[in-house]
Parts: sequence; structure tokens; C-alpha cells
Amino acid sequence: MKKRLLTILGALLLGVALGAAPARPDTLRMLCIANSFAVDAVEQNLHEIAAADGHILIIGNMYIGGCSLEKHWHNAERDSAAYSYRKVGADGVRRVRANARISEALADEPWDVLVFQQQSAMAGQPETFEPWLGNLLSYAKTQVPRRCKRMFFQTWAYAGNATKQGFEYFDYDQEKMYQEIVRTCVAAAKRHRLEVIPGGTAVQNSRHTFNRENVTRDGYHMHWWFGRYLQACTFYETLYKTSVVGNAYRPPHLGERRVEIAQKCAHAACLHPTEVTRVDFDNPFDTSNGNWKPDYINTDPSQVPAYTLPDALTMQDGRKVTTPEQWYAERRPELLELFETQMYGKAPGPIEDMRWEIAEEGPALDGKALRRQVRIFYDKHKYVTVLMFLPAGAEGPVPAFLGMNFDGNATVAPDPAILYPEPNYAQNYGIYKEQPRGSQASRWPLEDILGRGYALVTFHTSDIDPDFDDGFRNGATPLIYKKGQHFPDPDQWGTLSTWAWGMSRVLDYLELDPSVDASRVAAIGHSRLGKTALLAAARDRRFAMAVSNESGCGGAALSRRRYGETIRFITGNFPHWFCGNFFQYVDNEDALPFDQHEFLALIAPRPLYVASAEDDSWTDPVGERIAFQEAQKIYDFLGLDRSLTEYHVREGKHGLTREDWLHYLDFADKHLK
Ligand code: GCU
Repeated sequence: MKKRLLTILGALLLGVALGAAPARPDTLRMLCIANSFAVDAVEQNLHEIAAADGHILIIGNMYIGGCSLEKHWHNAERDSAAYSYRKVGADGVRRVRANARISEALADEPWDVLVFQQQSAMAGQPETFEPWLGNLLSYAKTQVPRRCKRMFFQTWAYAGNATKQGFEYFDYDQEKMYQEIVRTCVAAAKRHRLEVIPGGTAVQNSRHTFNRENVTRDGYHMHWWFGRYLQACTFYETLYKTSVVGNAYRPPHLGERRVEIAQKCAHAACLHPTEVTRVDFDNPFDTSNGNWKPDYINTDPSQVPAYTLPDALTMQDGRKVTTPEQWYAERRPELLELFETQMYGKAPGPIEDMRWEIAEEGPALDGKALRRQVRIFYDKHKYVTVLMFLPAGAEGPVPAFLGMNFDGNATVAPDPAILYPEPNYAQNYGIYKEQPRGSQASRWPLEDILGRGYALVTFHTSDIDPDFDDGFRNGATPLIYKKGQHFPDPDQWGTLSTWAWGMSRVLDYLELDPSVDASRVAAIGHSRLGKTALLAAARDRRFAMAVSNESGCGGAALSRRRYGETIRFITGNFPHWFCGNFFQYVDNEDALPFDQHEFLALIAPRPLYVASAEDDSWTDPVGERIAFQEAQKIYDFLGLDRSLTEYHVREGKHGLTREDWLHYLDFADKHLK
């Protein structure tokens, strides 16, 4: 009796503590007894989605990280004050109370809906459900209104390359995990007559769109913007039996197209909760070649619109640039500033008191090389691991190629001594499993590079900033934030700019490494990394040369041609690459105060190499060549020799091949030796 009284008293107090906000008769009240998966699903966006359709939704969430049904039951049975009770009130205000009991939460509101869920891996293991779920339901029944609905939150399968504990139960197979979760949840729901909230199917649907794995942030929790919004959409539609498609609420930092994907995938999951639906979009993407090609991208040369390129030798105020001195002193800084503020975003300067340590060193390539692995710290606990191959027995410091790699240092060569990233660290940037050693070796013909007397210096993009839309929370991006800032300003760096900054920091280190001549370092990169190599060299004049391999849109290709990849699609697919200001040029290329020929011209007076591939229409080889030729005119204007610029287009598809490298090595022999 005493305990009951205390419970009632506690509940009253809790009501006060959590601010019993004004509600209306049609207010819906939902309580989850759950874990972090429900935190992702209900604590943001959901109240707002409902509000956009004129509903008031009160959300309670009893949270314990990783909590299972069994543990929830024991907590209920013992009335343990073990929960963080989080509540979104009728007014949308969020409040949290620690040390809460299930009994208190149940009594806190006249709940209309109770939601249960299982721990994520156990959700696909039927033997982990009973008697706990049954017990919990019977317990709750005595404490909530008669009409209260009970629901079960079907959670989702992990990313295919996740290493999270529990995944082994499904043989690290996402599809298998998904199927087991569906089966287990259907059975539990049937047993207890629960309605299912098909969060797992919504996730699986989204994985079958071009958005692919961009739905989790660490392999199992939801992506900050997209995944969380997707879950909220699924809850909304299940609760209100109203299609979420077209709902007007917009979560911060989520582009229109991803809003559309989330809404449609959630809707499809609610219609077909136990199977994947392939959702068609108005602009379907052809993913057959690994490239995300919307089918109305122009690849017909006759359809290139008429355009006028801005004159590189006219200042913004209309003055003509008449001398090389004026170019270097006025026009070049003006253009660089425009590219930084309108397209890529500004980066900070060097790291104060840069710390670095040699993590490993040893012979490589049958003694033809020395391998050195260096950790450069750019923040207290954040570092980039640089992999260097140095020609063995070099007399004095050597020139080098510095370029990032896409999938990790270990993919550069089948060398067992190349360090894998620390697992905990790697998870922050969306890598959950080690990539196969040497899987990208064809892009790095080490024998040729080292044989010609160059060092190769490389590092993984994710060490500086992960290559996904992570809300600018990981890697180096937060370094620019002032107190209270959580997102870059419209002229502050996007990922390409952050990577380019990382290349400069590695160059800072090379200035201290006696094996490399830092005054003879070429910035090189393929595709998105070609865009980055150009930016690094444009911004940092210490780079002695720039090599752009099929960098395409946002790299060497002219934006105004709107051929192959366009600004609309690059910012839609990779919203994290550019700065906020760049989005105003979507379908508005003619308003750009520059074009990419001027970007290439920023490399002058240093050697510039641009390369394309014939069958790589996505990167607009013709647009790359025209931009290159226009940039050459600036080299001419500056009185520079034509040998400082070179271009090739090779046969074949998108890729960085040995053939490409042999051209670059010949070019470097002329200029870096
Ligand atoms: C995509 C993207 C390109 C990019 C390429 C790559 O195709 O659209 O802009 O260059 O990926 O980096 O491989």
C-alpha cells in the first residue's frame, strides 16, 4: 500500500517535473519502453510531423541504452528507478528526468499507445522474447486506460559491413537479419495482438534506393538527419493512419530529395510491413554502373545549352587584368576567395602545435621501398594516419605524390604491415569492417612511382572527414565551430574543402620529414579526390604541381555545360561536399561568378595536368578539355611555357590506371626533378 502511494505521489511529482503541458481532447499520447533505437525514432521530428498535420502528440520514452525485453521486465517487476524518462510535451518542449520507474511513466499520462521493442540483435531471436514481453504486457495492462493500444516497434538490420556484437548471430548478413526481425516481430505481434511499427522495413526500403547505406550513422544507429526522420515518418503513419507523403515538416539539414525518399519509403513500409518495396522516384536513378545516374542527365553533345564563360581576365568590378602582376596580386586572390566562399567553403589555417608520431616503419616491396606510417594529430584525439612509400636507398630527400585514397590505406597495396584504422575510431566515419588489403592496388602502381624516384604519400579521406552526410559532426569539420555552433556557416567548409585542408596538414608534416623534399610535392587525385587535389593546390601554393584525374563536376569540368553530372545532382547526392552558398547555383549555373577554367588557372604558375577518359561521360571529358584550354590561355597571358600544362584523354571508363600514372610520371620528371 505504502509503495502504491509512493508511486502515485511520484507520478504526480513527475507530472510537475516534466511540465504537464496544455493538451487538447484530440491529443494523442504515446509511451515507448525502449532503448536508443526509439531515441532515434521518436525523440525528434515526430512531434513536429504530427504538428504539421494539425495534431498534438505527447511522446514519452523510457530509455536505457541497449535494453532488452527481459531487462525491462525485471525493472518493472522490481520497480527499479533505472530509466531516463524523456518526454516531448504537447507544446513540443523536451524534458528529461533521470532515475525514473516504469510505474511512474505509466501513470504520468492517460496513454493512448504503448510501444515495446526488443534489443536490436535480439529482435531477430524469438527465444529472447518470452515470457518477458507477455509479462510486461500483463503488467502494463493493469496501469493504463482500457482503450490503450499496444504496439511493437520492428527495429532494423545493421549495415552490411557492421561489426556490432550480435551481428554474428545472423552471420553478418543484413538481409538475413532483416528477415529474422520481420519473422520474429510478426510472430510476437500475432501472439499478443500488437500492431507493428515497421521501422526495419522502412530502413530496408531506403537501402534499395540510391541512398543505399546512408541510413545509419555508425552501422546500427540511425543517421542523424535521414535515418531519424525516416523512423519518425514510419511512426507517424502507423499512429495516425495518414500517409506521411507530402507532410510539410522539414527536418533541419535534409535535402528535398532525401525528405521525399524518407516519406515514400516509410509509407511503403506501412503498406507492406513485412517485405521490401522498391520505391520509384519521379527521377529514377540508374545504379547499374555504380554511378548514380538520373536518366534525364544530358549526355547528348548536341543538347549542351548555349553559355558564355566568365572572362578570367576581368575583375568583378569590371576592370581588365592587364599584367601578370595584377593577376597574381588582385585577380587570383579575388577568384580564390570566390571559389572558397561560393563553392567549397573556407578552411582554417594550420594546426597550432601539431603533434605527430611515427607509428610504424619497415622495408616494403621486396626491399625496393621503405614504408613509413605517421600519425598526425589535428585534435586531441583525432589524427590522420599517413602511409608513405619511399624509394629505398635514395640519396637525399625525394619528390613525392600526395593523394588521398577512397577506402583506407590498407587498400593501396597488399602489404600486411599497413595499419588498419582503430575500430572505434573508424566507426565514427562509417567504416565498420576492414577493407581487403590491396583491393585498390591497381590505382597505385608503386613499382613505377618508386622506380622513377618518387615517394607516394597517401591517407584515407575518412581520417579527415567521413564521406557521407554526417551532419558535419565527425572528423575535422567541428574544428571551425565557435561555441554553440553545430553546423558550418554557408561559406565555411564542406567535405572537399576539409579534405584539401587535410592535404595541406600532411604537407606541413612533410616539411619536417627529412626523406621528402616538401618543395617538390604534387597533389594528385582521382574523381572526387581530383576535385580535392585541385582545391588543395589552388589554396596552398606550396604544392609544386597539381594532377586532376577525371575530376569532373566540381573539378576540372565546366559547370555551365550542364553535361553529365550537374550541380543539381552533385549537391543532391553529396550535399556534404560543398559549402551552403553553392546550393543557390542549382539549375542556376549562369549565375556563378566563375567557372572551372578559372579554378584550373589558380594553379599557375605551377605545372598542371588534367586528364579525362573517353567513356566517362559523367565527368564531361569535353568540358574538362575546354576548361583546360581556357586555363592554358591564362598560362600564356602570364608568360608561362606551354610545357607547364598537359592534358590527355585515354580510352575507356572512369578510373585511375597505370597508363594515366605513366603520363603523370613523365610530366613530373620534367618539372619536379
Ligand atoms: C560520383 C560523383 C562524382 C565523383 C565520383 C567519384 O560519381 O557523382 O562527382 O567524382 O563519384 O568520386 O568517384
